[in-house]
Amino acid sequence: MDPSQVQIPPMKDLTVDNITENVITINSLCEDERMKYVLERLVTHLHDFARETRLSSTEWMTGLQFLTEVGQICTPVRQEFILLSDILGLSILVDSIDHPKPPGSTEGTVLGPFHTHDAEELPNGDAISHDPKGEPLLVVCTLRDTEGRPIEGAKIDIWETDSTGHYDVQYAGRETPDGRCVMRSDAEGIFWFKAITPVPYPIPHDGPVGKLLKKLHRHPYRPSHMHFMFEKEGYDHLITALYLRNDPYETSDAVFGVKDSLVVDLAKVSPEMAAKYNVPEGQALLTYDFVLVSDEETRELRATNSKIALDKLGRKVKIVNGLPVPDLD
Ligand SMILES: [Fe+2]
Repeated sequence: MDPSQVQIPPMKDLTVDNITENVITINSLCEDERMKYVLERLVTHLHDFARETRLSSTEWMTGLQFLTEVGQICTPVRQEFILLSDILGLSILVDSIDHPKPPGSTEGTVLGPFHTHDAEELPNGDAISHDPKGEPLLVVCTLRDTEGRPIEGAKIDIWETDSTGHYDVQYAGRETPDGRCVMRSDAEGIFWFKAITPVPYPIPHDGPVGKLLKKLHRHPYRPSHMHFMFEKEGYDHLITALYLRNDPYETSDAVFGVKDSLVVDLAKVSPEMAAKYNVPEGQALLTYDFVLVSDEETRELRATNSKIALDKLGRKVKIVNGLPVPDLD
């Protein structure tokens, strides 16, 4: 791009009150409508934040140093920025906006920083955890669409901690994945496996996010849960988790992931189930019926929700590529 050929709107006499409109004007040459809109709103909110809090230079620098530390501690297996987004409630907010769920479908929750792409694909019935100290748990689930029809062959990622509350990737010298797998639903939409009963655990809190939590007088714990991620062509990607009822952290999850519809009660394996699944009678049992939403239904719901939300703010928008941009026509 030749700078001499770009018609930049002139800026003069910048003040606390007019800096925002000037920055928006100079960004308005952006040809990507959605990016232009996101930047316009980001600059507006950032500037309003500074004006409203009367942000001091010292505080501004403290914030920049904090973000620098967050970046510096990141590695391929430690994502401190996701953690920061999680503890500020942004991750769950974005998921809820981008993956709206009609009544009767399974709600989503935070991905968290511990999903990996190297989990082994296991057949139904296999064990995903090899921790001898974990309390054995039989997990039997179904996967259906919103009409109640079974979904066959969905790719299902499942991951959980060991009995000490650590994911495999948190151990130095990890050689093979454990406490995680990829599974496929069968012709009846069923998938089942042997696992261990989830336990609560703290998110990594030895870095800048941990320091922030401490300053805020917040604990770093997540209630006991097991993660699930579903992928099937034609359906909206679902990232979710199941939480055990009456966990001490059920109502104070450090990353705001708990939703009522995802809280489950464990049962005991009956004599019939013990025979059918070849596990001891009386063992802990988790059952759940997951419901996926089609891509089409999700797209429509997302567009409708966008229009309603922006209408409330008095903004006229149109939907382009599934996302709102200002409607200037
Ligand atoms: Fe987790």
